[in-house]
Amino acid sequence: MHTIHAHGANIPALGFGTFRMPDAEVLSILPKALKLGFRHVDTAQIYKNEAAVGEAIASTGIPRDEIFLTTKVWVDRVGHDAFIASVDESLQKLKTDHVDLLLLHWPQSEMPLADRMGALNALRQAGKVKNIGVSNFSTTLMEEAVRLSDAPVVNNQIEYHPYLDQTHVIQKAHDSGMSITAYYLMADGAVPKDEVLKEIGAKHGKTAAQVVLRWAVSQRDVIALSKTSTESRLAENYDIFDFELSPEEMQAVHGLARTDGRIVNPAHLAPKWD
Ligand SMILES: NC(=O)c1ccc[n+]([C@@H]2O[C@H](COP(=O)([O-])OP(=O)(O)OC[C@H]3O[C@@H](n4cnc5c(N)ncnc54)[C@H](OP(=O)(O)O)[C@@H]3O)[C@@H](O)[C@H]2O)c1
Repeated sequence: MHTIHAHGANIPALGFGTFRMPDAEVLSILPKALKLGFRHVDTAQIYKNEAAVGEAIASTGIPRDEIFLTTKVWVDRVGHDAFIASVDESLQKLKTDHVDLLLLHWPQSEMPLADRMGALNALRQAGKVKNIGVSNFSTTLMEEAVRLSDAPVVNNQIEYHPYLDQTHVIQKAHDSGMSITAYYLMADGAVPKDEVLKEIGAKHGKTAAQVVLRWAVSQRDVIALSKTSTESRLAENYDIFDFELSPEEMQAVHGLARTDGRIVNPAHLAPKWD
């Protein structure tokens, strides 16, 4: 598996997501994912499973420095001290003295963006966070975050799948040296059933899910997250680096984009999208 080097962050191109995964599932499936070879794990304060993620990672005996670990600060951490304290709590739960990437989970918050970027920078300076980034940011907000930060902003984690065109955000990331992490790649179950994707997959002996994960990581500076609580799908989702999509196949996947393709759009959290 290749790594994405944006601003020296070295992020494994395929990560394991833990959204909507209760502790028992994390403790059961994450060690298996790590055993299989996943070395990038994505969680968040709001997932309420950081302690289980920390326990699962520790149980494998894999050295901490071999795993790229991301968490995200929830929007209700308001005020510098409360923000920092919430990250200290995350580190304690995750059983580590640092995360590799800390993201602002959504743009809307009562804490001004300048103060949140300041807190991310302070955490980075203190060594508690190796890299800082954002999530669900529009191009305007990406520009703003970069302007307000001393340290490089290395990543924007966004909804991205074949039905949602993210050309503008990806172009802005390229312009700023940032990487993009794609979430919701299965588009709420639509991807595995898609006939166009199945047909492309059949030519390579792969499933529609594998085609889309491959499509994502084949794009410059794009990282894919994959979540599954189903053991039989772990190997399927990991096994995407032994085939290539042709330029025509890449275009065919891009061609599935629709104007109403966005799925995740909570009004109280989301920005004005591009
Ligand atoms: N920054 C944000 O705001 C944000 C928002 C959403 C997600 N995320 C992150 O991104 C990660 C990925 O997003 P996501 O959790 O929505 O996951 P996803 O990777 O898009 O897919 C999850 C769903 O697809 C199913 N699935 C997975 N692999 C499959 C396969 N090979 N064939 C058929 N179905 C398959 C899973 O079912 P089973 O589990 O039942 O197998 C699950 O229901 C999250 O876990 C989280 O870490 C971030």
